[in-house]
Amino acid sequence: MHYRELDTPALFVDLDILGRNLDTMARYCEKHTLGLRPHTKTHKMLEVARMQLAHGAIGLTVAKVGEAEVMSASGATEILIAYPVFGEKKSERLARLAGERKILVSIDSEVTARGLSKVLSHQGVSLGVLVEVDVGVGRCGLPPGPKAVALAREIDRLPGLEFRGLMTFFGNVWGSLEEREKALGEVTSQLEQACEAFRREKIPLEIVSGGSTPSAPLTHGVKDLTEIRPGTYVFNDMNTYHQGSCRLDDCAARVVATVVSTAVPGQVILDAGSKTLTSDPLGAGPATGHGLVVEAPHSQLFKLNEEHGYLRLSPEDPAFKVGDTVTVIPNHVCPCVNLHDEVFTVRNEEVVGSWQVAARGKVR
Ligand SMILES: Cc1ncc(COP(=O)(O)O)c(C=O)c1O
Repeated sequence: MHYRELDTPALFVDLDILGRNLDTMARYCEKHTLGLRPHTKTHKMLEVARMQLAHGAIGLTVAKVGEAEVMSASGATEILIAYPVFGEKKSERLARLAGERKILVSIDSEVTARGLSKVLSHQGVSLGVLVEVDVGVGRCGLPPGPKAVALAREIDRLPGLEFRGLMTFFGNVWGSLEEREKALGEVTSQLEQACEAFRREKIPLEIVSGGSTPSAPLTHGVKDLTEIRPGTYVFNDMNTYHQGSCRLDDCAARVVATVVSTAVPGQVILDAGSKTLTSDPLGAGPATGHGLVVEAPHSQLFKLNEEHGYLRLSPEDPAFKVGDTVTVIPNHVCPCVNLHDEVFTVRNEEVVGSWQVAARGKVR
């Protein structure tokens, strides 16, 4: 069956593009002896996680305990929860998981460390811990310097916890190549300061984990980094495209939608609204809109209701009639995938199967 014959709206993944994206990142990491611990928040699918492991990933990254529970079935030897896990209920689930496989968490406070230690030591299991340092995002993470060192010392004093290194996110490395290179320069110097503080105290850092998709091709210049955690690179989206960090041909995940109304002159309505595409605006580049309609690149998907996508037609693009299908590349693919129960797999435009989005909605 051709992908246009799918019941719409439907999210599909082009397996050849996915394979290429996995290959490119694996080769880059191999060439620069960087560990690859991909963030699975983008795809949330066991099948893709297994492909990443087959492409040399040293482990996986997740944001939530629920995602780690799902990804545990992937066979990954070690899963990093790159998010401060706080609270007794979550700690108990973490303790159960840590009894089955190697788990790492990143934290930035003593109160979180003590909460985890209390539950884990009571259950007789232990956990690797990374201290999160902030190199410019301003989200979580301690500043490079003595506070991060003090937290590492406290972690090592607490039963059930083992300090293993640092975690940081390069989310501020964003924009054109020039902007990304400039931001990465600042990130590199911040991270160097963070690592230097540990060297001065003779505290070894087994892991220094950083990265993101827009920064990925530039990270070999970042001193001290042992691994990167790109997520979006598997599928790419209009955000990575508008930063010039991928081509349109590298966008593997697309939504096929049907024109359901042409009643208003100059526009058509697609059956893909915010419940299919998310209403995430473009975070990069001068362009606007809610995704690229591949068959009408000059037209603009200017507005979304829950189930309606408003496409303002450009005279440069073909006219559409009710029943026509179009293909949309989403602005931000990670939350888009999270809206779908299943994703269809496509090769040479033919549907060859489907995958469950097993970790969708696992927000706890
Ligand atoms: C902590 C952390 N690591 C890695 C990533 C992956 O970044 P990207 O999706 O740009 O590859 C994210 C994305 O939000 C993140 O929050």
